Formats: sequence, C-alpha cells, structure tokens
Amino acid sequence: DVVVLAYSGGLDTSCILVWLIEQGYDVIAYVANIGQKDSFEELKFKALKLGAKKVIIDDVREKFLEDYVWYSIQSGALYEDRYHMGTSLARPCIAKGLLDAADVEGASHISHGATGKGNDQVRFELSAYSLKPDIKVIAPWRIEEFLERFNGRTDLFEYARQHSIPLPVTPKSPWSIDANLFHVSYEGGILEDPEVESPSDIFLLTKHPSAAPDQPCRLEITFLKGVPVKVKNVSTSEERESSLKLYEYINEMAMAHGVGRIDIVENRYIGMKSRGIYETPAGTVLYQAHLDLELLTLDREVRKIKRHLAAMFAEQVYQGYWHSPEAEYVRSCIRKSQDDVTGQVTVDLYKGQVYIIKRHSSRTLYNKELVSMDAKGDYDPQDAGGFIKIQALRLKEYRRQHSTTSAT
Ligand code: ARG
Ligand code: SIN
Repeated sequence: DVVVLAYSGGLDTSCILVWLIEQGYDVIAYVANIGQKDSFEELKFKALKLGAKKVIIDDVREKFLEDYVWYSIQSGALYEDRYHMGTSLARPCIAKGLLDAADVEGASHISHGATGKGNDQVRFELSAYSLKPDIKVIAPWRIEEFLERFNGRTDLFEYARQHSIPLPVTPKSPWSIDANLFHVSYEGGILEDPEVESPSDIFLLTKHPSAAPDQPCRLEITFLKGVPVKVKNVSTSEERESSLKLYEYINEMAMAHGVGRIDIVENRYIGMKSRGIYETPAGTVLYQAHLDLELLTLDREVRKIKRHLAAMFAEQVYQGYWHSPEAEYVRSCIRKSQDDVTGQVTVDLYKGQVYIIKRHSSRTLYNKELVSMDAKGDYDPQDAGGFIKIQALRLKEYRRQHSTTSAT
C-alpha cells in the first residue's frame, strides 16, 4: 500500500517515515511549504535517504494566504478572545495538499506526526475524512508498537547513525515549535508550567518591543472587500501589492517593531488546557486595521450579527472543522458581510503596539454633517427627547417594581 506522510523533516516525522517502511508501506513524503524557514532541498535529500519512494515539495504559501488567512482577517476571529489560530488555519491547508497528493499518487493511506493529546490530530483527520471519505489514516503517536519502537528517540539517532542520515545539528529546543507564514507557536516541554515565565530569547520572529526602533513605522493598508490588497510604507513610499509580497512586507515591519506576541492558556478541543506562546506579527496588524475599517463601513446591526459568525468561525477553525458544511456556510456569510469593507487604514507600528492613525473609505457610512457638533444635518435634536423617553419606559417600570419589592 502507498501512504502519503505529512513530513516536516524533524525527528518525529523522520521516525514515522522509517517505521512506515518497516511496516511494509511505500512511503511518499509530502512537505508543504507554508512559509516555515526550512531548506526544502535538504528535507528532500533526507526523506529519500530514509527510504521515501518520492518526495513532494508543495509551495502552498499563496493558497494559505488567499484561501485561509484572508478569511480569518475578514472574520476578525480570535479563539478564546486572543489566539489568531496560526496553526489551526494551517492544518486544513496542509491536509488539502496531502489529500490531493494521495489522489494523484493513488495512495490509500495518509499519515501524520501529531500527538495523541492535541488538536492537530483532530484537524488533520477530520479534514482528511471530509475531503476523501475512503482514506485510511495512520497516526503513529496513538499506536503502541510505534511508541515501543521509538521509545525515547535514541532509536532514531541509532538508526540514523547506522545509515549515515543527517540529523539536526542544532540540539532540539526544549519546547515544540510550529512555524508558518502567519505565525510561530511554542508549547510543551519547559513551557508546560503556566506559572513559569518563558525564556526571553524564545521568539524566532519578533524583536522585543524594548529593542524596537524609537521611530514608528507608518503603513497605509488598502483593503478590498475585507482583503488586504496593497500596503504602502508612508515614510519610504515603498509599496507591495501581491498577497504574498504585501503580507511578507507587513510581517517584516511588524517583526522589527515587536508586534504580535502573546502568552496564553487555551482550551484544547480534546478537553485539556494547554499553555501556548505565539507570535503573529502581520496577522496582528491586519486584524487591527481591518477592525477599524469595519467600524467605518459596516452597519451596526450587521456588525453585531457578524460578531457571532466570527465566534463560530473561530471555534470551527480551532476544532478542525474547516472542511465541513457548517464552516463553508459561515464563511460564505462572512464573505458577504465584507462587500463594503473597502478602503485604507493608516497605522503606526511602535514598540509592540499597533496604533490606528486614520482611515478612508469610498463606502464609508460616516456622515460628517450628521455627526458634527457644529452643523444641523438631516436630524432634529428634539426627536432625541422622545427617543429617550420611550427607551426609558421599561427602565422606569422596572425600578418602580423593584424599589417597592425591596422595601417590603
Ligand atoms: N495550540 C495551538 C493550536 O492548537 C498550536 C499547536 C501547535 N502545534 C504544534 N504542532 N506544535 O492551534
Ligand atoms: C500536537 O499534539 O501534535 C501539537 C499540539 C496540538 O495539536 O494541540
């Protein structure tokens, strides 16, 4: 049987590759380039040395941005009010590539290196079954024989030495890292105690805000229907337009200015709480800028409904239901809400913060004359008196009732 393995090049998925071959499978290693800073040539060489029949390097960076991250920006969703879901969004994207590869290669199985305690196993596998209902999944971290074979990992080191397979030269960090274009996450190992401060040098992307420049970086970000389409650096006049280019540019500026770090405790779908540290530089900037533009262009009541949709979107993404009927439905509603979210927002990135400076939209619902303290506009202040009286009716009745009952 042919199995397509989601291969990262790390020790874990290298163990899995070897073990799958030992189990008699023909292994195709699938590597998604989702913006992690890896040497893909080295990964390919390594997978082939370990015995993979074929290695697929799939550049999904643009797809990841346009088909996943942009929805997230449009939705304005955060999981549990803080997490931008960098890993959660990447999983259904990688799964799509993996299952497409399984189709092309005629593979009956897929395999992945997610642990048996986390969210990622759920995300990979729900995506897999949804995209290809007859697929078979091998999750070695839930299989006893695998755990025995690679107990303590020294076994892979031993195997690698025997077969002169290159192992990572840098010692493994005492925590688990998951990196893509949108974010880097750190969890596990010494980070598992939420009462302990994380090492100050843990972050791979962002500078500490105290080491960031004393001059802010001013960016003008243009959105079209809620999607960023252009960024201009106001001081240098540099501009970027394609999704990948503009995203990387904002990321670079946000990293330099220390934007987007969080340290949180979150609820895994599986049921336990876990402590995670994340940096989402450009994602944080775009989230803030988009929020500002929505307040300018969205009707108040539409926005209220949309906030509920965003909460649903966050839960669906986090819990692994990207490829599901309910998530498709929610995404289509979110997209519809963005019809008028077009315009420019100017932000300053400064010492870890995103400061909104100003905004402009041809679709603005802002009426200067209507709101001005110095002009009358299409508005009669006397109407407000009746409006307040009617609104107060219920409050007065309530107080009347409760002041009498509390006195008795
Ligand atoms: N807790 C985060 C999430 O569930 C990040 C998971 C990190 N994954 C990893 N393989 N290190 O989205
Ligand atoms: C893992 O378990 O593989 C990483 C953590 C998670 O998926 O929540």
